Amino acid sequence: MKKVITMVVMLALSISFLAASGEKEEAASPSPAPAPDSASSASLDNASLAWETAGEEIIFTFAAKTTGWLSVGFNPSRVMKDAQYVIGYVANGQTTVRDDFGTGTFAHGPDTDLGGTDDIRLISGREENGWTELVFALPIDSGDEYDVPLTLGESHKILIAYGPDGKDDFRTKHTFKTSFEATF
Ligand code: HEM
Repeated sequence: MKKVITMVVMLALSISFLAASGEKEEAASPSPAPAPDSASSASLDNASLAWETAGEEIIFTFAAKTTGWLSVGFNPSRVMKDAQYVIGYVANGQTTVRDDFGTGTFAHGPDTDLGGTDDIRLISGREENGWTELVFALPIDSGDEYDVPLTLGESHKILIAYGPDGKDDFRTKHTFKTSFEATF
């Protein structure tokens, strides 16, 4: 069953990449929060997140309609504060990701600057047809005080955001952001 779900998610992601081919239109924003379309994924017209558990890790496939940065956050206390973030971009074929923490209501910074650790295991990244896809693994519980436990079977608030096309950095404000609840 898990294999079937994974295949469906991979197929959906491939279709969204193909569908994006040649399109120039801007993503609609603001947009309603994505309704999880199965136990292991959530998708919008302009972003999708799929996950599967693997031992002590959760593997995420995250795609968004931007050629700039994209980010997924977990469990803020309010707005962006206290959330764990994975933020990344693909530039010149090179993928860069950073493990951040919500240092303020509208601010985030690298865990490593705060005395924490970078706990992202990057698996792959690609930029195609105006979309960027990041595949990465996070520990279910890294033990870092600047991460949040992604406890299985519990509901988590997920934040998704991305920046303007071409903004391959960790500073530019989002052109799209949304949030929804998900259980891993
Ligand atoms: C330096 C970069 C960033 C700045 C300056 C920034 C700023 C802000 C501001 C001012 C808001 C309030 C609403 C608005 O004005 O749009 C907001 C909300 C939000 N931001 Fe950021 N943000 C940044 C990065 C991020 C990142 C990396 C994420 C990753 C997911 C993110 C996710 C969100 C979400 C989901 C909301 C809405 C939260 C809610 O309504 O509860 N932001 N941000």
